[in-house]
Amino acid sequence: MSKQTSDTVVPFESSSLSKKEQVAEMFDGISGRYDYMNRLLSLRLDLIWRKKALRQLAKEKPKIILDVATGTGDFAIMAYELLKPDTIIGIDISEKMLEIGKEKVLKSGLSSHIQLQSGDSEAIKFSDNTFDAVTVAFGVRNFEDLEMGLKEIKRVLKPGGKLVILEFSKPKISGITQLYNWYMEKLVPNLASFLTKNRSAYQYLNRSVQEFPDGKKFVSILNNLGYEKTSCKRLSLGICSIYSAIK
Ligand SMILES: C[S@@+](CC[C@H](N)C(=O)[O-])C[C@H]1O[C@@H](n2cnc3c(N)ncnc32)[C@H](O)[C@@H]1O
Repeated sequence: MSKQTSDTVVPFESSSLSKKEQVAEMFDGISGRYDYMNRLLSLRLDLIWRKKALRQLAKEKPKIILDVATGTGDFAIMAYELLKPDTIIGIDISEKMLEIGKEKVLKSGLSSHIQLQSGDSEAIKFSDNTFDAVTVAFGVRNFEDLEMGLKEIKRVLKPGGKLVILEFSKPKISGITQLYNWYMEKLVPNLASFLTKNRSAYQYLNRSVQEFPDGKKFVSILNNLGYEKTSCKRLSLGICSIYSAIK
């Protein structure tokens, strides 16, 4: 069992499983409604955020991309549509999320370009300096060991390769913050409990966003790990942020 500190936010607070095991179990459980809930809860804004994040790679024209925490493959599929690389590999620890992703890749006729496979961000099964770019959408917040994941990503990036991360952040505008907190603390879990019968997954969503070191804190984590040209771009009043960095 891997480490779990007292301040680690986990999906099931009374469980003795590691955060990683709990996260995999939670996403396995909500996989069937995951895409639907994403569109609904973000009012489809997630599609705009995803596109903006991937445009950060337009100039670099990466040929081989690793999509970490790929889940049901939405970011990987959009990355292919926008950037037309030769290959995208998506890795995830939730088998059920991957199953849905694989079906979507097959249906979109992209199997020769996108491969989704089981894999852990904290022990990536690829050699050093393999990828032109690494992408992570709504994944880093769920890592058990954030620094280990970011170190592993840096290891598999080629020198000069680019990391693009899309992640929820906390709005800091008074009035908006209160509205956002009400939405995340009250409305989302109630709606999710009705639609997915899984309130705890969406309570975890709120707790994990609240605890995540967003904005400047996240940029300084990237800097401390030796990433260069780090930046943070806040979207939609700060509900979401795009981070980018170069190895
Ligand atoms: C919120 S979902 C995001 C899925 C997808 N990237 C998207 O944009 O919809 C988070 C995903 O992170 C995965 N995950 C969490 N920890 C991971 C790890 N250590 N390695 C790989 N995937 C992980 C979960 O299994 C889950 O599928």
